[in-house]
Amino acid sequence: MTIRTASLADLDQIAAVEKECFPAAEAATPAEFQGRLEHYANHFWLLFDGDQLVSFVDGLVTDEPDLTDEMYAKGEMHNENGAWQMIFGVNTLPDYRKHGYAGQLIRRAIEDARAQHRKGVVLTCKDRLIHYYASFGFKDEGISEKSVHGGVVWHQMRLTF
Ligand SMILES: CC(C)(COP(=O)(O)OP(=O)(O)OC[C@H]1O[C@@H](n2cnc3c(N)ncnc32)[C@H](O)[C@@H]1OP(=O)(O)O)[C@@H](O)C(=O)NCCC(=O)NCCS
Repeated sequence: MTIRTASLADLDQIAAVEKECFPAAEAATPAEFQGRLEHYANHFWLLFDGDQLVSFVDGLVTDEPDLTDEMYAKGEMHNENGAWQMIFGVNTLPDYRKHGYAGQLIRRAIEDARAQHRKGVVLTCKDRLIHYYASFGFKDEGISEKSVHGGVVWHQMRLTF
């Protein structure tokens, strides 16, 4: 297993893993991933089994403290000098789940954000995953009013350094 950041060449594999992991209403499209990769490929963390992408985490950096739906689609909102590392997607292919792979990537994203002197890391999740992200130190801030995509109730969680 190897972990690295992304380049535009990873687009097809990233979009394929996303499609396997999320219902269509919640999944980011290949066009959205292209926009993200063009602006912040260095804020994608990819885990490979050989040449096969099996898990990834991604998100832009911003001075905005709260995660909004607009950020998902607009790669140009990335600010390399921003305060907060957002996490948009946490995905592991079904056959590779429960081996700690997403956990390895979340820890790597946290370590990198800390090394880059951010204020912390912010994500949104469904209530069934609150305990999972709490295990990395994220605190639940309640139901997000700024992220409602897919018609889902999202909790915002924050890890402040
Ligand atoms: C959520 C998701 C990313 C987790 O990926 P993963 O690689 O299986 O994550 P991990 O292996 O780090 O942890 C998952 C569970 O496996 C457990 N686990 C980790 N290593 C393990 C091991 N070696 N043996 C058994 N269980 C293990 C973890 O403790 C965790 O358990 P919990 O749910 O009871 O807390 C994955 O299920 C997924 O892609 N789901 C669909 C998309 C989604 O909902 N994403 C999150 C959006 S908020």
